[in-house]
Amino acid sequence: MTVSTRNSAALSSFQLKDRVAVVTGAAGGIGSAIADVLAALGARVALVDLPQTMPQLQRRAGELGHAALAIACDIVVPDSVAEAADAVQRQLGMCDVLVNNAGFQGPLTAMQNESLATWDTALSVNVRGALLCTRAFGAQMLSRGSGNIVNIGSIAGHKPNATVSYSVSKAALLALTRHTAVEWGPRGIRTNAVSPGFVMTRLSAMHYTNAELTRRREQMVPLRRLGEPEEIARAVAFLASDASSFVNGHDLIVDGGFLETTVMHAQAPEQQYGGFAGLGVA
Ligand SMILES: NC(=O)c1ccc[n+]([C@@H]2O[C@H](COP(=O)([O-])OP(=O)(O)OC[C@H]3O[C@@H](n4cnc5c(N)ncnc54)[C@H](O)[C@@H]3O)[C@@H](O)[C@H]2O)c1
Repeated sequence: MTVSTRNSAALSSFQLKDRVAVVTGAAGGIGSAIADVLAALGARVALVDLPQTMPQLQRRAGELGHAALAIACDIVVPDSVAEAADAVQRQLGMCDVLVNNAGFQGPLTAMQNESLATWDTALSVNVRGALLCTRAFGAQMLSRGSGNIVNIGSIAGHKPNATVSYSVSKAALLALTRHTAVEWGPRGIRTNAVSPGFVMTRLSAMHYTNAELTRRREQMVPLRRLGEPEEIARAVAFLASDASSFVNGHDLIVDGGFLETTVMHAQAPEQQYGGFAGLGVA
């Protein structure tokens, strides 16, 4: 193989030309960026979200232009998911890529005070919903012996955050990722996760209610900024494409290095980051 043939094979492995991609939670901040990036790489994208988001979802699908489809679906309801899977197969074709991105985080509360309703919703949307979509869209992949699933985890699935149900549900989603990777790997399906760090969206808005809180979060990240939805989407695109053809059961943490900082933040402020604080912060 010549260098130029190899270069062009490497580049084309990132493309998703004519693949059918399903993105749940596509009306949200990160989901909408994922839909954009997958469509830009050539995928035909089904944007899935709750019925109340339909006007927005249909507008987004219209903007994406080529063969994008908006589908109203509550991912925790089996019949709703089955109907969505049928609609995708009829209107776009069999699902090649599933991105389980829809998510829920309840109000910040002490573990003793969190309502069972919040707990149930978090476990339901973040775990049961992902399982139902994996089974419904995965059936189309299994019937052809190929496919690709990317679950959107969280750094909260690795380290406790302020909402117990969110941390527990995301840890469970990462376990579902590993399980699916092992059980369906022999049947031609790769399953991976992307765990975002700090990204400002409706789901995380509670962490950015004032400039000081936002600045404090930025300072905790080695790259000294929040992530952008598109930076999460590009990681998803890598895992969804043939560029990652031997990656299976992996969780790609996209957090600017934040999860690695625990010991560094235990040092005296002047000893952190080799004395370089960045952002003008001591
Ligand atoms: N924003 C962050 O900092 C951050 C960090 C780590 C992980 N995440 C994860 O990224 C994913 C996307 O979150 P986001 O930040 O874009 O939040 P978002 O609130 O903007 O989007 C979440 C979307 O999920 C949809 N959704 C919720 N329940 C649903 C259901 N039952 N059926 C169908 N759709 C449903 C919502 O309508 C919404 O459009 C989530 O899984 C979230 O946990 C976000």
